[in-house]
Amino acid sequence: MKDKHFETMAIHAGGGRKPDNSLNDPIFLTSAFTFDSLDKAAAAFAFETEDYVYTRGNNPTLRVLEERMAALEGGGGAVAFASGMAAISSVLLSLLKPGDEIITHRMLYGSSQDFIKNTLPQYGISSRLLNLTDLLSLESGITKRTKVIYFETPANPSLEIIDTRAVCSIAAARGIKVVVDNTFATPYFQRPLDLGAHVVVHSATKYISGHGDVIAGIAVAKDVDYVQQLKFGYLCEFGGVMSPFTAWLLLRGIKTLALRMREHQANAMAVACYLKEHPRVGKVYYPGLPDFPGHALAAAQMSGFGAIISFEIKGSLEQSKALVNSLKLFTRAVSLGDCESLVQHPFAMTHRGYTPEEVEEAGLSPGLIRLSVGLEHKEDLIADLDQALGRM
Ligand SMILES: Cc1ncc(COP(=O)(O)O)c(C=O)c1O
Repeated sequence: MKDKHFETMAIHAGGGRKPDNSLNDPIFLTSAFTFDSLDKAAAAFAFETEDYVYTRGNNPTLRVLEERMAALEGGGGAVAFASGMAAISSVLLSLLKPGDEIITHRMLYGSSQDFIKNTLPQYGISSRLLNLTDLLSLESGITKRTKVIYFETPANPSLEIIDTRAVCSIAAARGIKVVVDNTFATPYFQRPLDLGAHVVVHSATKYISGHGDVIAGIAVAKDVDYVQQLKFGYLCEFGGVMSPFTAWLLLRGIKTLALRMREHQANAMAVACYLKEHPRVGKVYYPGLPDFPGHALAAAQMSGFGAIISFEIKGSLEQSKALVNSLKLFTRAVSLGDCESLVQHPFAMTHRGYTPEEVEEAGLSPGLIRLSVGLEHKEDLIADLDQALGRM
């Protein structure tokens, strides 16, 4: 299946023959699996067979999802988790031990930043937040203790683009593992494993689901031994396992991932171009805009620019709040990647943990507005922004 196009793999990759000639993969809502004999059970426990034992370890619906995601990301295997944060925290704890250090990009999804900055130190793991768009700053920031480099590209919510191939080659020369959060781009627009990353993590809650009805996470790696270790040494022990029903909904969502991403992006480009021209709008952060600082790099390492836009207005924080409040079609909500267009204020909501100094150092405004451009008609989305900006 790996030689097939993305759209084909999104529908067919993973799994084997389905029971009772079912077209779709069934949902195996069972905690445990039965054995004809104790010998068969012992063989399964010893990993001598692929028989299922218990859904916290594996389940046929989860396995199809893991195989499909591995195919789409170009990995050797994948592990499904109960949430993006379960995937991120398990992956990081699997690669770090007391005394180690992790380097991350200065702008990350708020809970990831919180976990790295405030939780990992409780286990003797220190962190350093750097500007990873500056490779010299990365190189000079690496120490003997650095074991992992972690970033999102595009970053949430600054949309900065990190040169994944360059970071991976710096890391590989020093035996450091690179973990990339691919939530914004999805494997349809970018495959970090092909650029040298060790692990890709996802909040599958977002575009992978596409319908805003689950909380889910996935980690994918080329190294199958690492995937086994992550599954049976961390997922199984920490217990942040995905429900088979969630996996089934994700499999349904993934079938249309390519179509959705193309349409999301076309809408986002139209919205970004509209915002760019509006006299009341200040900076527009969207990698698809030719004058965006990361545009050339995004064009080189991605096959599309995604559909998250951040922007600032020429006005006060209060005016930016009023603008968000006066939107009618864009829904005020966290999350992203749904059919519905969503709007939020990251530094008042998902990224509250950032200090005003950190926000300023990243060159962002506390009134930054983040849009997740959905699948409604672009003219309706632009009309909504137009009426809200017109009230300013
Ligand atoms: C880029 C990114 N990574 C990770 C997460 C965490 O994922 P989850 O909410 O599924 O735990 C989010 C959530 O918004 C996110 O935006």
